Amino acid sequence: MTERTASLKFSDGSPAVTFPVLSGSVGPQVIDIRSLYGKTGKFTYDPGFLSTASCSSAITYIDGDKGELLYRGYPIEELATRCDFLETCHLLLYGDLPTPAQKEAFVPSVMRHTMVHEQMQFFLRGFRRDAHPMAILTGLVGALSAFYPDSINLHDARQREISAIRLIAKMPTLVAMSYKYSVGQPYIYPQNELSYAGNFMRMMFATPCGPYEVNEVLVRALDRFFILHADHEQNASTSTVRMCASSGTNPFAAIAAGVACLWGPAHGGANEAALNMLYEIQAEGGAAKIGEFIAKVKDKSSNVKLMGFGHRVYKNYDPRAKLMRETCYEVLNELGLHDDPLFKLAMALEKIALEDDYFVQRKLYPNVDFYSGIVQRAIGIPVQLFTAIFALARTVGWIAQLNEMVADPEYKIGRPRQLYTGSPRRSVVPLAQRA
Ligand code: SDX
Repeated sequence: MTERTASLKFSDGSPAVTFPVLSGSVGPQVIDIRSLYGKTGKFTYDPGFLSTASCSSAITYIDGDKGELLYRGYPIEELATRCDFLETCHLLLYGDLPTPAQKEAFVPSVMRHTMVHEQMQFFLRGFRRDAHPMAILTGLVGALSAFYPDSINLHDARQREISAIRLIAKMPTLVAMSYKYSVGQPYIYPQNELSYAGNFMRMMFATPCGPYEVNEVLVRALDRFFILHADHEQNASTSTVRMCASSGTNPFAAIAAGVACLWGPAHGGANEAALNMLYEIQAEGGAAKIGEFIAKVKDKSSNVKLMGFGHRVYKNYDPRAKLMRETCYEVLNELGLHDDPLFKLAMALEKIALEDDYFVQRKLYPNVDFYSGIVQRAIGIPVQLFTAIFALARTVGWIAQLNEMVADPEYKIGRPRQLYTGSPRRSVVPLAQRA
């Protein structure tokens, strides 16, 4: 097949240059510009990477126009309804859904690593009880590297696999510990015979004072929540993990960098911000005040955004938002909260926004974060913990992407260049002569 190319002509008479055009299995082609600087002494310029592919990847594919999300080729709608989270972890890590025998081996290999070192609890004591869980989690995840020296060599595939299992297994324990610390309750040790999501629910809500009944409907909802958040192409926190790991640092440190990035309200912190936005509208008068709020959002000087709306890639409905809204119905019905005023407010806000030209023109649709807060709140999870639970779910995606990068023969340390706009060379004036 003849090689596709793209040529660049310069109006200043510099010689035109040609680059290969590469095709993936589906989705946009890329122009391979790796030789651009060598050939022209020029860089490309793309702050925010709106038109830049940072890597090749076989893990997750998003078609923003179709509202399509595939993990290793499987549609998210099928995974979220036909699989559980640990099957999805196997898929993301090893490239395919487990056979029954593989699942029988994989699940216990994760569940028997759910405990953390007893010393970890003393880290928490250094924090105030009202510390944000993401501040605690960023610290705890990075600290794991100090407890597992046998699995910190990024370039050893077996050590990467061990650290992957440890991180996936221990994130629920660390998140639950940060919650128990904030409410002054004793930590609840993992019960490895429970399901992954069931064990997390028990560590969160059980106390030593009596039995805890796992509610299977809520566990299923949480397990689906984890599936929906497991990976998402080269988003900000995944790109952070790749950049961090490209220096050769250990996997725990790279995942801690991902946790720190996810915290931002434009990214994983949007679920916390979206629920607080609904609380604010409710406090100001509820549905009757939606018009006023939308007007504020449209007024750029207000700096108010409709949290849980918009996405860099989805210019159509986020398929995860649809599944999250269905999960909302299930959880609220199970808990007898079908009249939950906040859910009704969210649906009213969604309806108005989807009909408003300002949002339609800008292709702003609800994303995964718009409904996820309502599900978590109904389950009893405090708002401040929402992003920590997003990080719990996304850990497997970060690890899969890190592994793919390290195994890529083209992998190099990430080192972008810049368009320099600062002062040209100048000499230092002695202090006594500076005006
Ligand atoms: C996640 O990348 C991922 O995949 C992330 C994620 C994942 O799974 O990893 O999907 C998870 O982070 C989802 C997104 C969660 N964030 C939010 O819900 C916060 C609110 N959304 C915005 O901050 C924004 O939509 C972003 C950050 C998500 C996307 O921003 P872009 O792609 O940089 O778009 P933009 O800021 O250039 O916006 C284009 C226009 C602008 O208006 P104009 O200058 O054209 O007039 O749309 C406006 C923006 O002002 N706009 C919004 C808006 N989002 C964009 N206006 C009001 N409310 C919003 N939410």
